[in-house]
Amino acid sequence: MNEKIGVIGGGQMGSQIAALAAMAGYETSLYDENKENLEYRFKFVENNIKNLIDKSIYSKDNLDAYHNNLELKYSLDEVVDDKSFVIEAVVERFDIKLEIFKKISSFMQQDVVMATNSSFIQASELSKHCDYPERFINMHFFYPPIRMDLVEISYPDNVSKNVLERTKTVSKNMGRSVVVLKKETPGFIVNRMLAALVDEAYELYDEGIAEFEDIDIAIKKGLNHPLGPFELSDYSGLDIHYYAKLKKFEESGDLRDKPKAFLKDKVLKGDLGVKTGKGFYKYNKE
Ligand SMILES: NC(=O)c1ccc[n+]([C@@H]2O[C@H](COP(=O)([O-])OP(=O)(O)OC[C@H]3O[C@@H](n4cnc5c(N)ncnc54)[C@H](O)[C@@H]3O)[C@@H](O)[C@H]2O)c1
Repeated sequence: MNEKIGVIGGGQMGSQIAALAAMAGYETSLYDENKENLEYRFKFVENNIKNLIDKSIYSKDNLDAYHNNLELKYSLDEVVDDKSFVIEAVVERFDIKLEIFKKISSFMQQDVVMATNSSFIQASELSKHCDYPERFINMHFFYPPIRMDLVEISYPDNVSKNVLERTKTVSKNMGRSVVVLKKETPGFIVNRMLAALVDEAYELYDEGIAEFEDIDIAIKKGLNHPLGPFELSDYSGLDIHYYAKLKKFEESGDLRDKPKAFLKDKVLKGDLGVKTGKGFYKYNKE
């Protein structure tokens, strides 16, 4: 494995993306600005892998690779030091992602891939403000990455062919099915389709047509979906839905894109879904 991978952001996604990289045999580093969260997530993913060994989804060798190939880092400089491939998975905020990429693109080696796992922000939106725009690409995993077998790749027109090919190779070596979009679009394929469903569910709830629990039951029973739209929102994180809608609203000015007041209230209260123990439903904190 010739790439050395640095993952920035060790939350729900980043911690598991780093695990996939380490289990695939890549020398991997993981950094989060919240040290406590970083260490908690490392243990949490370790326990997940152990559970998945019991279900014969992973092996003891995978767990050993997780331990041997993954190092936690405590600064941005350290996580990218010596790396050939960077995957950013911090909170879904454009300003924060941009600050990170501006900083690292200014000092990193010329052939380093700069991938973002953002759900809605396109690589070109970041790359146009940074050095070496031809190195930027979207590499979109699904929650939980160690279980969900898909990476959507999309790229700005000016991306180098080498960056695209290396991103495909890393995704495939992580054991993931890969789809490559022909054009950039916020939300890629899956989230664009999902947004249509979730938006309509929020609209039904906002109009007082049904309780959210009943909307979830209707979708699960009537459409045979494994999770209802409110359960799904809780799993992916209400902040992600909120910031994605806010960005769309700021761009379009269309009131139909404005995040619903009930969503904003929950996000401001810190009720972000499964990761905080409360969203639409209550959970034992992960
Ligand atoms: N949750 C999903 O279902 C899902 C799926 C695909 C993609 N994504 C994308 O992945 C990214 C992360 O989402 P998540 O669900 O892991 O969120 P999360 O809230 O679990 O994790 C985000 C992490 O970023 C860290 N962070 C914030 N600012 C930072 C900084 N400046 N430097 C380093 N770390 C910083 C936070 O401490 C936190 O641990 C988002 O861009 C999101 O859109 C999420």
